[in-house]
Order: sequence, then structure tokens, then C-alpha cells
Amino acid sequence: MNAPSESLKKYRMFIGGEWLDSASGEHFPSDNPYTAKPWALIPRGNATDAARAVEAAHRAFTSGEWPKLNASKRGALLRKLGDLITENSKALAETEVRDNGKLYAEMSAQTAYMAQWYYYFGGLADKIEGAVIPIDKPDTFNFTRHEPLGVVAMIIPWNSPLLLLAWKLAPALAAGNTVVIKPSEYTSASALEFMKLIEQAGFPPGVVNVVTGFGAEVGTPLVDHPKVAKVAFTGSDATGQRIYEAAAKGLKRVSMELGGKSPNIVFDDAQLDNAVKGVISGIFAATGQTCIAGSRLLVQQSIHDQFVEKLVTLAKTAKMGNPMSLDTQVGPVTNLPQFEKILNYIDIAKGEGATTVLGGARAARPECGSGWFVEPTIFTDVNNAMRIAQEEVFGPVLSVIPFHDEQEALAIGNDVVFGLAAGVWTQNMRRAFTMAEKLQAGTVWVNTYRAVSYLSPFGGYKRSGIGRESGQDMIYEYLQTKSVWISTATEVPNPFIMR
Ligand code: NAI
Ligand code: MG
Repeated sequence: MNAPSESLKKYRMFIGGEWLDSASGEHFPSDNPYTAKPWALIPRGNATDAARAVEAAHRAFTSGEWPKLNASKRGALLRKLGDLITENSKALAETEVRDNGKLYAEMSAQTAYMAQWYYYFGGLADKIEGAVIPIDKPDTFNFTRHEPLGVVAMIIPWNSPLLLLAWKLAPALAAGNTVVIKPSEYTSASALEFMKLIEQAGFPPGVVNVVTGFGAEVGTPLVDHPKVAKVAFTGSDATGQRIYEAAAKGLKRVSMELGGKSPNIVFDDAQLDNAVKGVISGIFAATGQTCIAGSRLLVQQSIHDQFVEKLVTLAKTAKMGNPMSLDTQVGPVTNLPQFEKILNYIDIAKGEGATTVLGGARAARPECGSGWFVEPTIFTDVNNAMRIAQEEVFGPVLSVIPFHDEQEALAIGNDVVFGLAAGVWTQNMRRAFTMAEKLQAGTVWVNTYRAVSYLSPFGGYKRSGIGRESGQDMIYEYLQTKSVWISTATEVPNPFIMR
């Protein structure tokens, strides 16, 4: 990296309520994918920084103001944070766009909507009630308490950094935990900007901390730290597996939201113009860089050619370019390795015999400049055994696979190691309910795609994850249950027999 470092915005980590350089004093550049040039310097954290942050979080969990706050007060802090997010959502979105290249139109909506997670879990904080158990023993009172776990490590990817953080942070704080966040090395700036709002909201020092750097250098020691009680992760299944294995050594809890190879299934009775839009939103929105990408289009044989033609016609019109412009529809890919990975998968698909009906190359349009843009790409003649049908590309690359009937659609749809999401396009109610029941996926959308809410559980079947995010029940992923026994007997009976 030769750019003069004075021109780059220099960030610090946020540990124990203080803004700190990394222990090594080193930084690394973060790139703007639209210009393919660095714009910021991020502290390069290591094991010393991870330990410092976990210790700060552990101190905040065990002493000071945080453990003394009652649940209503914790809820009020979260709602205040929600208000601050609402006031600052545009600035947060600008940082996201600069660092990950996603559309401002999408990111500004996302950062504004994100406040809802803090309002919702802020509201839930003081409604978590234990139970009085009608216990089957004489002279005994038994009740349950739901208690926080302790220090939660949150490891975040680059595609929707602040939103995916909100899904974890809001319930974890509502439950009374303290937190160390490790954002992606490609998009660390927004989490650090967000810490200013954490400070402003008045969270006690050490309740929320951010360490930055690379997975192997700061992520691994964070996961391994004995004072971390739980690891909440979103990212690739390969890294998720590695983190799960590391967490197992310390018998730590995990929740994991991993990738997908989601089928978007179009039947011949579907409203085809809507289905075309749904398929496009599933694979070309966010430049395909979403865990829920509908990257396998399963289309019924009888409408295959007609549907592909409609799809290509609409996808061709997608406007590429500056992600800050409100009329841009497909932005750049977030980082250089991902850009190269997508192009490599395009080559793999061609080598496997798929037919390129749209795109299939780097986007060399003038409006794309030197940014990391890939043409929206559609492959036909794909069969489900090909790598392009089985592996997560995480880019604007769609594989079209024909099917004959419902049975075959289900068989192909479920024949994959992942199970994050699925889409179904049909006007037949019986078919809609049957498909929703039989598809092995944590989310099934019928006649819509890519909808999420703070109110509804989200997560993966199979290799797509462990646990759920959003919705009321998932706060228990950040709590543990204690059973308390109180005897009112006047005398302890035979001590040699279990009561
Ligand atoms: P990744 O899954 O390797 O990284 C996600 C996070 O984990 C980052 O913060 C990273 O620094 C951290 N990390 C990596 N190794 C770690 C370790 N050993 N211990 C602790 N933390 C660690 O994703 P990456 O490299 O950014 O992208 C690779 C592929 O993952 C992409 O090509 C894409 O296919 C997939 N991906 C999937 C996402 C999803 O939402 N399903 C999100 C981002 C990437
Ligand atoms: Mg970046």
C-alpha cells in the first residue's frame, strides 16, 4: 500500500470506553470498492488487543454500573440507542457504502430499519420472566431465573456489517451480557463509527468493545479466550466450522448464521412478471453478496425458455456504477479476493458446460471505472450436481436449473448442503403450503423474496447455521436458566437419600 497515509482516515479501536491504537501500533488499509483504492486505516489488532477487550468486557459484566442496572434501565438505554441510530442513519450508511460498496439506496434503508432491533429488544428486556414451578416435593419452593451468559464475542462479515451486528447486539445487551465485536477486516469502519453512538447513549465503559484486524490474528484469540462465554458468528460455513471447533474446546456456546445456495423456484402457474422481479432481487440486489441469495433458479420446464428470456431482458437493464447514486442498481463487489473468487466461479461454470446467457465477465463499462464490478451473470444448462449449483459464489451469478414437477423441484431444491432460504412462485395455494412445509430451509418465501424483520426468526437448516436471530424467543440464545430451590421444611430429612 503506497498511498500517503495522511490522506486516509485513521481509526482507533474501542476498548473499555477508550479509543486505542492496536498494541502493535500497526494499521492496515481498508479499500473503497468503487475506486479500488484505500480510504481508511484500521488498527491491526492481535491477541493482546483481544485479551484487553475481553478483560474490559468481563470487568463490565462483573462490576461497575452494568450489573446493577435493572432490566427496564437496560431497555431504556437500548431505546435511546435506537433513537441515535435513527438520527444518524444516513451518516452510518455513507460509511458502509464507502467501505463495502453496497448501494446507498439499500444501506440507508437498512441503517434506518436497524433501529427497530434496538427498540424491539429494548422493549423485551424487562419482559423476560422466570417461572414458579409447581414442584413435586413437600415444603419446597422452586423458581427459575434467566441470567446473562457473560462476555459474548461477535464476529461479523462485510456484506451488511451494522445490520448483522444489530441482530446479535440488541438481544445480547437486552439480556444483560457484555460484548466484544470483531468486524470484518474489509468493513471495520462502520462498527467503530457506531461506537460513538454507544458512548452517546451512555452504556457504561466496557459493555461494548470493538477490536479490529484479521481473523487469524485477532479473531482466533478472541474466540479462544477463556472468559468468552459465547461466540455469535455470521460468515462463511468454512470459517463457521473452524470457529465452532475452537469454541468446542472451551465448551462455549455458539450461534452461527452461515451461507446458502438457496433455490428460488418458479412454477408455470406463477405470476411470471412478479417472479422475474423476485428472482432478480434474489441474485442481483446487493450484487449477490447476501447469505440469502437465490442463486439457484429452479424453473419449470414448460416455461423455461420464456422465463429466461424475460429474466435476461430485465437483468440487462440493470444500471451499474457509483453506489452512492440513487439510480444505481448493481454496485461493485466488496473486496478484491471476492471479486477474483466470483470471476473464478464464472470460469468454473463455463468449464462445467453451463451456457452463459448474460454477462459472464468483469464489467468493463465506463461508469464502473476501476472498481470491482462483475456483470450480472446468468447460466443455463446447469445441472444440480455442478459446482456452480452447489457452492456459494456470493456474487451476481445465477444458475438456472429446469424441473418437471413439484416432486422434482423439491428433490433438487433440497439436494444441497445448505438450508438458509428458499423462494416459491406459484398461485396455487395447496402447492404453496406443501412447498413451504417440505423445503429444508430456515426461511421460505412464497411470492416474495429477501424479506426480513426483527419480529421473525431467521437462521439456517443444515450447513447454513445453528440457532436463530430475531423474534422473541431468540433472546434465550443470550440467556441461561437457573433453577432455585428453597426449602421451608423445619428439619433436613435423611441426608443419605436424594430428595
Ligand atoms: P469469513 O467467513 O472468513 O469471515 C467472516 C468473519 O470471520 C470476518 O470478521 C473474519 O475476520 C472472521 N474470521 C475469519 N477467520 C476467523 C477465525 N479463524 N477466527 C475468528 N474469526 C475469523 O468470510 P470472508 O473471508 O470475509 O469471505 C469468504 C467467503 O465467505 C465469501 O466469499 C462468501 O462466500 C462467504 N461469506 C458469507 C457470508 C454470509 O453472510 N453467509 C458473509 C460474508 C462472506
Ligand atoms: Mg473496505
